[in-house]
Amino acid sequence: MADLHVPATIQRFGQTARRDAWWVRPLVVFTVLSAFVIYATWAALQGVNYHYGSYLSPLYSPELFGKSSHAWFGPLPESWPAFLPTSPALFILWAPGLFRLTCYYYRGQYYRAFAADPPSCAVGEPSRKYSGERKFPLVLQNLHRYFLYIALFFLLILLYDVWKAMWFNDAETGHERFGVGVGTIVLAVNVVLLGGYTFGCHSLRHLAGGIKDRLSGRPIRRRMYMCVSCFNRRHMVWAWLSLVWVAFSDLYVRLCATGMLTDWKILL
Ligand code: FES
Repeated sequence: MADLHVPATIQRFGQTARRDAWWVRPLVVFTVLSAFVIYATWAALQGVNYHYGSYLSPLYSPELFGKSSHAWFGPLPESWPAFLPTSPALFILWAPGLFRLTCYYYRGQYYRAFAADPPSCAVGEPSRKYSGERKFPLVLQNLHRYFLYIALFFLLILLYDVWKAMWFNDAETGHERFGVGVGTIVLAVNVVLLGGYTFGCHSLRHLAGGIKDRLSGRPIRRRMYMCVSCFNRRHMVWAWLSLVWVAFSDLYVRLCATGMLTDWKILL
């Protein structure tokens, strides 16, 4: 077991008595989060190849304005100013983005990985000025519970996208046929992983039962609390799997749309 003896006064940044590879985790977090942000930003700015038949990339869902058949309100109005963004993803990605950014789990991870504040447990910090999350701008992290409400709504939309991804246009008859494609499975797994992540949210756990002093005599609330707690115990795992799978789902749809990948499907 690693020696976790901590010197009485840790002064210098990075100073520690730890002998384990404490820097591996922040390095992995830094690498994976950076890769995701770079990919998601690139994909969101494309504005094309985000849909393929009945599939819609989760980075673009819901598509409020756009040229695909998934768009809720059709194309952007003619009067849309040219200097404003036109990619459909840019209208909606702020919501899941801020939900993740303010997530209690991710906060702990990116404070360490990107600000090294602290780099890890019992490792010297760059500054001693940290005052918690009670002052601007970190106090805004408390908006997490409101982004949770939006995330739950997005989850319903993504579930509906999976239903739509089960209907394919039959080129011979011109009618829609029920079926399952690899893309359907990719989008369905995406919803399952995002559901596991969202239902394990600490704010949801508070809402479900943590808000109460006692849960005895409240069977429904107690069951809800236990259910959310069950997801919450693996919040870290759900967080990373869902993050990677969202990017993979977009990539899958994108590769199909560009003709670089064939979507295998079974029609009933
Ligand atoms: Fe992680 Fe809410 S705490 S999603």
